[in-house]
Amino acid sequence: MTAGPERFHGWNRRAPSGRTAYVNGRYVPHAQAHVHIEDRGLQFADAIYEVWRVARGHLLDEAEHFDRMDRSLRELDICLPMARAALSFVVRELLRRNKVDEGLVYLQITRGTARRDHAAPNHLLRPNVILTARRLNTAIADKRHDEGVHVITRPDQRWARCDIKSTALLPNVLAKTAARNAGAFEAWLVDREGRVTEGSSTTAWIVDREGRIVTPGLSNAILPGVTRQVVLRAAADTQLTVVERFFNIQEACSARECFLTAATLGVIPVTTLDGRTIGDGKPGPVTRRVQELYSHETLLKAESPDSL
Ligand code: PDD
Repeated sequence: MTAGPERFHGWNRRAPSGRTAYVNGRYVPHAQAHVHIEDRGLQFADAIYEVWRVARGHLLDEAEHFDRMDRSLRELDICLPMARAALSFVVRELLRRNKVDEGLVYLQITRGTARRDHAAPNHLLRPNVILTARRLNTAIADKRHDEGVHVITRPDQRWARCDIKSTALLPNVLAKTAARNAGAFEAWLVDREGRVTEGSSTTAWIVDREGRIVTPGLSNAILPGVTRQVVLRAAADTQLTVVERFFNIQEACSARECFLTAATLGVIPVTTLDGRTIGDGKPGPVTRRVQELYSHETLLKAESPDSL
């Protein structure tokens, strides 16, 4: 057995995973994909991101995620160096190269690479564009979807522009980690007024005592979730009543049902909140209906001939 340094190099020379990433115009082996150490995304979280779900080989809600990406870039004054059509092509090519039928696509766009200085340079930087794709364990996803998850609450310690999908996610990371350490799947974030804003990486929903679906309205306090938007659109054509307003923990704990949404997850029932059982502890009928509506809406659209 050789000494430490050689072993370290050995660790670096892991067998290639076969995965391919995309960085600034190139498809590269995932293990070797990199940006410069003075990338502003790395140093300042001066970057935005998007995550798409891929189901049955289809990219779900592609346009909606691109629209939100455009908005985030606009809000931070970052200029995307390629057209949406080109980016869309790269996403599909990456899925093909990684053989992803059920999985996720991650896109990150940073302001670019520059000598470290808090102030963004006056001259235009070339943003760093990174894409990765990976397969999803559908057995785990299906179990979550069918059986629901546990949620805890944590204080919302985030900044005042949570509507921008930036990579500055430290409070979210801490809250999600706390959830995992507590044996829960998600942490719902509670602001100083006691209102649930959203989950650390999901939108929060309840079904109130009157059977209405409630989720916070759009503001700087929450991310405008694409799944949220799709659920609202789908529910509008039904008998379901949806109210956009804040709710607090007490109301959530005594709600008939709770659920959460995200592109990566779809619609997931919440069966306990801070250890308290929601409803009868099983996914409720309204959540089941919303799951059906969401699957129908997204897959139908994705499978229509003009969606590609
Ligand atoms: N998270 N709220 C927050 C804080 C989020 O990070 C997300 C998504 C959502 C749901 O948005 P959407 O329905 O568009 O996925 C709400 C992604 C999945 C992530 O960070 O990985």
